[in-house]
Amino acid sequence: MLYFNYPSNPTAATAPREFFEEIVAFARKYEILLVHDQAYAELAFDGYQPTSLLEIPGAKDIGVEFHTLSKTYNMAGWRIGFVVGNRHIIQGLRTLKTNLDYGIFAALQTAAETALNLPDVYLHEVQARYRTRRDFLIQGLAELGWNVPKPTPPCTSGFPARPELAQLTLRYPCCNKPESSLRPATPLVAGVKAMCESA
Ligand SMILES: Cc1ncc(COP(=O)(O)O)c(C=O)c1O
Repeated sequence: MLYFNYPSNPTAATAPREFFEEIVAFARKYEILLVHDQAYAELAFDGYQPTSLLEIPGAKDIGVEFHTLSKTYNMAGWRIGFVVGNRHIIQGLRTLKTNLDYGIFAALQTAAETALNLPDVYLHEVQARYRTRRDFLIQGLAELGWNVPKPTPPCTSGFPARPELAQLTLRYPCCNKPESSLRPATPLVAGVKAMCESA
């Protein structure tokens, strides 16, 4: 089984449609079951639309796709999601869950039904809110001298390291700091150095 997740948390990486086509061809060739976690299906913007595994011809023969209401509908912890795709795989999951699990509290199911019936304007508002937060963060980092390209999905991690930080040899619990290898202090490097010194 191959489990994968795009847009990715925590890297913020996205995968083009060609990647999905390749992975489906690969999985069909080597008889691998595909499980795609598409938790961020709706949380994209700037014209980007995440690819669904099930858009790819032949994917349904060998794969399923999971979605969760945790992100789009801010229902994290409510344990509500769904899986679509190959019916044999879903039947296997159903058999497993029938023996291991039990249903979700009915009120939460009703809330989920309400959420799924919300008009698209709700999604647009959520996307706008995440875009605003991303822009705020990126602008703040830029003001500190860290120019980060804008990731398309909202995940806030996955930023490339600043060159200054790349010169630090990181190790647990903090960094091994050859002082001379650091460039002139910027607020960010100064912060890291302070952390190292106090560790
Ligand atoms: C990629 C991805 N999948 C799934 C989840 C969790 O979904 P759920 O709350 O339905 O377990 C997260 C939450 O962080 C996630 O980032």
